Amino acid sequence: MTISINKKKENLSFNRQQWQQGYQSQPNEYEYFIEDIEGKVPEELQGTLFRNGPGLFDVQGTPLQHPFDGDGMVCAISFLPNGKVHFRNRFVRTEGYVQEQKAGKMIYRGVFGTQKPGGWINNIFDIKVKNIANTNVIYWGNKLLALWEAAEPYLLDPSTLETLGIDYLDGVLNPGDSISAHPCFDPSCELDNGQPCLVNYSIKPGLSSKITIYEFAPDGNLLRRHSHTVPGFSFIHDCAITPHYCLLLQNPVTFNPIPFLLGLKGAGECVNFQQGKPSQLIIIPRTTRDKKVKTLEIDAGFVFHHVNAFEEGNNIYLDSISYDSLSQVNFETDYKEIDFDSIDPGRVYRLKIDLDGETVDKKMIESRSCEFPAINPKNFGRNYRYLFIGTTHKDRGNAPFQAILKKDLLTGEKQVHSFAPQGYVGEPIFVPKPNATSEDEGWVLVMIYDGDQHRSDLVILDGENLEKEPIATLHLKHHIPYGLHGNWTSEVFI
Ligand code: CO
Repeated sequence: MTISINKKKENLSFNRQQWQQGYQSQPNEYEYFIEDIEGKVPEELQGTLFRNGPGLFDVQGTPLQHPFDGDGMVCAISFLPNGKVHFRNRFVRTEGYVQEQKAGKMIYRGVFGTQKPGGWINNIFDIKVKNIANTNVIYWGNKLLALWEAAEPYLLDPSTLETLGIDYLDGVLNPGDSISAHPCFDPSCELDNGQPCLVNYSIKPGLSSKITIYEFAPDGNLLRRHSHTVPGFSFIHDCAITPHYCLLLQNPVTFNPIPFLLGLKGAGECVNFQQGKPSQLIIIPRTTRDKKVKTLEIDAGFVFHHVNAFEEGNNIYLDSISYDSLSQVNFETDYKEIDFDSIDPGRVYRLKIDLDGETVDKKMIESRSCEFPAINPKNFGRNYRYLFIGTTHKDRGNAPFQAILKKDLLTGEKQVHSFAPQGYVGEPIFVPKPNATSEDEGWVLVMIYDGDQHRSDLVILDGENLEKEPIATLHLKHHIPYGLHGNWTSEVFI
């Protein structure tokens, strides 16, 4: 018995106490030029990296039951033409954040199970949702928007990160509407003479779900909008596009709101994964003329994120990270004590969808536990070769993500850059080099939490040779908790 415990300890690539420290709240807001840099920041790398994620894991001392309930904190890392790099972070001053900070106590229940103190009596029938604006941040149409899928975007000043208020996208949204935190970038839209566009969707869930697709021009104007109703409750966190289709995967879940209404559970805890039940793949044409929405039943497991999709003849390919089962969000267990071995790893699967025969083939393309995919943005919606994604240090089993994997989907070749034992990775972002001639010619930007130093680093890896020493490691003066999503813009804001 003792031997097996020791063996297990020896096998760990990480120190749990250090990993847990990445979930410490960061209540401070900073702005400074980063001076502690190893290596050299490439001169051609100019622009701004915006990232979002929960910044607080407690509200005035009351701990959150789930990290996804944390108030959104946006970071901006600006790469200036003179080679300097500037860091800034600010909380999104959502209505709820401002109220709770002012009151000095928790006022809202969290969607993922955080309950106000005082037991069910203090939570019963309280269905007020706090827009925490913590999932993604994107610069589009001359606006910097902090996104959370259950509510409206918040508008931020891209230079100062000051919160300017809720943004209704120039009247596209109404008060109380929501829009997804995962817009899809189309680098060259056929419908707009090759101009880029941004595709996003919203879902009004219920016994049936109303899905609305929006397409926005580079100046932020709405180009197209169409709505479709599909049967069943929908929990759809991400979408994928091809030049002619939007693809949404309706996970096999049911929703029982009673425990939420009674104040016993968070809304997220009332979503139940129906293991073994099929998912519905919803294929919505991006032009509404003559074409109908198709829904195909497939065995897809549970999917949060898609890597990409593309068309070839009458086939559509959709690459996604899929889990065989989804462990129930449960507020009785501490997320920091999670048993990684008990959780199904996310794996990358490719669906080949025959539009004529309405058949779907499923193939695993990466078995390693992974999540948070990135590709060259020029290949969104198109066939692509290189996938960059967060993964575990070891090639088997489950653990915190400590490495970035580059997978060549043509040859199957893999490169892994690991930051174990003290480093924990977030979502990589691929920035193509100006005038790049190959798909992987660019930089992979990734935020690392350093458990030894209790601070975070921004690391720049070489997309063509991921395994070599980082091109540069920029040490921040403090830690940034584990984040969610972000985006790069070639505009420099400071
Ligand atoms: Co996401």
